Amino acid sequence: MSSIDYSQKIPNNVNLSDDRTLQRALEQWQPNFIDWWGDVGPEGSVDSEVYLRTAVSVDPQGWAQFGHTKMKDYRWGIFMNPGEADRTIHFGDHKGEKAWQDVPGEHRANLRRIIVTQGDTEPASVEQQRHLGLTAPSMYDLRNLYQINVEEGRHLWAMVYLLHKHFGRDGREEAEALLERRSGDANNPRILGAFNEATPDWLAFFMFTYFTDRDGKFQLCALAESAFDPLARTTKFMLTEEAHHMFVGESGISRVISRTVAAMNELQTDDVAKLRAAGVIDLPTLQRYLNFHYSVTIDLFGADESSNAATFYSTGIKGRFEEGKRDDDHVLKGQSYKILEARDGQLIEKEVPLLNALNEVLRDDFIKDSVAGVGRWNRVIEKAGLPQRLTVPHKAFHRNIGALSGVKVSPDGRVVSAVEWQANESKWLPTAEDRAYVASLMGRVVEPGKFANWIAPPVMGINRQPVDFEYVRFN
Ligand SMILES: [Fe+2]
Ligand SMILES: [Fe+2]
Repeated sequence: MSSIDYSQKIPNNVNLSDDRTLQRALEQWQPNFIDWWGDVGPEGSVDSEVYLRTAVSVDPQGWAQFGHTKMKDYRWGIFMNPGEADRTIHFGDHKGEKAWQDVPGEHRANLRRIIVTQGDTEPASVEQQRHLGLTAPSMYDLRNLYQINVEEGRHLWAMVYLLHKHFGRDGREEAEALLERRSGDANNPRILGAFNEATPDWLAFFMFTYFTDRDGKFQLCALAESAFDPLARTTKFMLTEEAHHMFVGESGISRVISRTVAAMNELQTDDVAKLRAAGVIDLPTLQRYLNFHYSVTIDLFGADESSNAATFYSTGIKGRFEEGKRDDDHVLKGQSYKILEARDGQLIEKEVPLLNALNEVLRDDFIKDSVAGVGRWNRVIEKAGLPQRLTVPHKAFHRNIGALSGVKVSPDGRVVSAVEWQANESKWLPTAEDRAYVASLMGRVVEPGKFANWIAPPVMGINRQPVDFEYVRFN
């Protein structure tokens, strides 16, 4: 059950060949996916042979097999964690009932919406990152980019499988539409804001994979609790892939910081102009990129008060992060949660029903997790003997969704006037000049073992290979 059949046109561990109609429908979608990948997938990658991991089984040990694979021959497929016999729903109004193997009619529209929204982020990020291969800071980094790209493509497959199998004609239409929307396209954009922002350079890419892929982790964790068992099993396997994406972000930023603090010590300066002249990314610029990606990402959790969030939970569609580890009643009626609101120029806490605040609960869990990694970045600065520190901005900073979207708030959490915002925006968010400077550093470095000047080599290679391993063979 857990091993994957690669002899099929579509590799899978869901016995696809037992359902000829479904198999045919997916085999018709497959060439459209390949065309989409060719159109907006990673630029210039088609003939490269890349040291990629491929899922061979979904067992916790050894699901991945490493080897050089031609990008155009990558085998995307449908992989699900094995089901638990007699799994029951463990939260919401249906608590204690049997988990659903198919979609109950009354929850069909909401489930479809959730699957489509998740599915839409996957191809979006591939589109956002498509030019980055041209400016990779090393062969090692190029390989990691491609690994993430093929896995985001596979995540699209995961959602498309659910749409085709469980949602009939509507599902098939949604699956087509997932290949038609384009990140940043004014006429047919991706569904969520952060997935229409450009990822123009590798600093943005590392911030994106640290913060925005982590949003993915939290959404997937909440869906892994779902009463709809196929969704729970699919997302559990996706989570094992997601871990590497966040690793790329965290270690990427860590290596940028490493290089920057080395230059600061070498030159005995924190002067931005001098550091830029030395070709490294100054800490204030890093902080502004962090502020941007963090704030855009926490918007993804949605409005702080949401009756949809309550419905999703109570109906069993979407749980909380680590639902099973929490020791409350898992029904949550009559409980409250504190959210923020701006009143008379002040941020104040307001108690709302917990069920309506579940977006905020997930956002707060995300914030805790993100802050931990920022602490690890700070240790790199600390170890270099320097006093500077990076921080995450206040959660009301630069928000475009929810009650806080109507006010301007500084990174340290003060409500500010439009005038004060304007006077400081260039200190708080990346400026055109910052972006131009970072862009000026982006040149392609792809000889094995060589690294661009602005980033330190990693401590270890991938799959215990040496850092100067030939991770990509260009053809
Ligand atoms: Fe993904
Ligand atoms: Fe990801």
